[in-house]
Order: sequence, then structure tokens, then C-alpha cells
Amino acid sequence: MDVRVIAVMNQKGGVGKTTTSVNLSHALARSGQRVAVLDMDPQGQAGISLGFDNKRAGMDAVLLDSAAIDEVKVTARERLDLVVAGDRLANFEQVKEDGVQRGYRLLRAIEQSSLVDYDFVVIDCPPSSGLLGVNALFSAQELIIPVASDYLSLQGLSRMMQILRRTEGLSGRCIKTWLVSTRAQPRRNLTQEVRSRMLNYFPGGVLGTPIRENVALAECPSYGKTILDYKAKSAGARDYLSLAADIMGRRAVEHG
Ligand SMILES: Nc1ncnc2c1ncn2[C@@H]1O[C@H](COP(=O)(O)OP(=O)(O)OP(=O)(O)O)[C@@H](O)[C@H]1O
Ligand SMILES: [Mg+2]
Repeated sequence: MDVRVIAVMNQKGGVGKTTTSVNLSHALARSGQRVAVLDMDPQGQAGISLGFDNKRAGMDAVLLDSAAIDEVKVTARERLDLVVAGDRLANFEQVKEDGVQRGYRLLRAIEQSSLVDYDFVVIDCPPSSGLLGVNALFSAQELIIPVASDYLSLQGLSRMMQILRRTEGLSGRCIKTWLVSTRAQPRRNLTQEVRSRMLNYFPGGVLGTPIRENVALAECPSYGKTILDYKAKSAGARDYLSLAADIMGRRAVEHG
């Protein structure tokens, strides 16, 4: 598989996972990349943010009924496809059969789909560390952890790293991990403090572009629009286009 499969994950809620999944994906597509977003959160907010509801079959059908990804994917924007969560996705957390193999259902589904020929698959994960998250991590070569610019985010980050190490142990693979600052308010001391701790803990892994707090980013999901559809000249649009360039160039902050 040449495609870069990236899970956007943090078990802490409300840190900007969905905002980042959707807007980064659209920014990558606008930059000429072929992208698919997979909504692995039963809340279904990645799909909603792109203007699709969860009444259609989506990841629920893929994971529960072995539907093919190519049967349920929809075209969301030019070069950007989407598989919605679907309204039964939460049931997947209760699946007991199949032993260890149930952790690999997403990877198998991706391998058997046209997504292997895409440039990027971006997986929006739920704020938990259950079977959905395990499937995302077993599928991904890369992980983006959004870190909101407040003190408690740092605690969430160390818990997230424990989950990651355990998964790497189980799957026997390393996952390249990127941190992204979200909800940054550059003039605030706290924003700078959190960013400098991230750089210390994670030299070489912090993506160059911090995503600033920007009210347009909070407004656009209610219209089913990404920030590039809604306000292309906003700070949020510029930040996500710049973050897309960081990801394409694997551009972390130089350190030391
Ligand atoms: N940079 C930003 N500026 C302003 N608002 C933001 C920004 N990033 C995210 N938000 C808002 O913060 C809230 C939480 O963001 P989001 O839904 O992306 O987080 P999440 O990590 O996916 O949450 P959950 O854990 O529930 O899935 C949303 O209302 C979103 O619009
Ligand atoms: Mg979310």
C-alpha cells in the first residue's frame, strides 16, 4: 500500500479531531491529493461536517456486515471521498467474536478497496480507546494527535502515548506520530507553554503549523461546509492549507 493512512486520534474529547480530519482532508484534496475520510466515530460528525447524514450505510456496514468500502463511499468534494459512520457504528464496540482478528477488520477492508491507490486515507476517531480506535491504529502508518492549547491537554497526551505504545507492542509496527496544536491563541502564555512542552516531549514530531482559535471553524459544520467552502480567506482556512503542506512534506518543527 502506497497510500498514507493517517488516524486522527486523542481519547480526550473536544480537542479538534473532527475539525482537523475534515479540514485537513479538504485542504489536501485542494492541494491535488486524492483523499478519503473515514468516519470511525459513532457521533458521525465528520460526515455531518461535510454535509452528509448518517442514515446511509457507512463504516457500520463495513465493520458489522463486511460491506465493501467502495460500495458505501460517497464523493464529498473534488478528489475527496467519504465513508460516513452510519447509525449502527456504536454496536461495533460490542463485537466479541473473531478474537484478535476483529481488531483488523478496518485494515482488511482498506486493503480490499480502491483506497490503496489514493494518496491519503484520514480516519476520524472517537474520544475513547475501544475497538474502533484499535482498528484505526492497526490500519494507520501515521497518527495525528491534536493537542488543544490548555493545561489538561498535556495530561491527555501522556495517556494517549501509553495507548500508542501498547498498540505498537501488539501489532509489532511503529506508527509515525505527529502532534498538532489546536485552538491556539498565540498571544496567550498558556498556548506558548503547552507548545513548548509539546516540543520538549516530542522533538521532531510537532507539525510546524499551529491551528489558531478561529470562530469560522466552529461555525462551518452547521452548514455542512468545510472552512475552505465557508470562508476561504479566514485564518482557519490558511492554517489548514499550511498544515496540509506540512503533512505532504512531513514537515515538523526543527528542534535543538
Ligand atoms: N481552531 C478552532 N477554533 C475554534 N473552534 C474550534 C477549533 N477547533 C475546534 N473547534 C470547535 O471545538 C469543538 C470541538 O471540536 P471537534 O469536534 O473537532 O473536537 P473532537 O476532538 O472531534 O471532539 P470529540 O472528542 O467529541 O469527537 C467544536 O465545536 C469545534 O467547532
Ligand atoms: Mg470528533
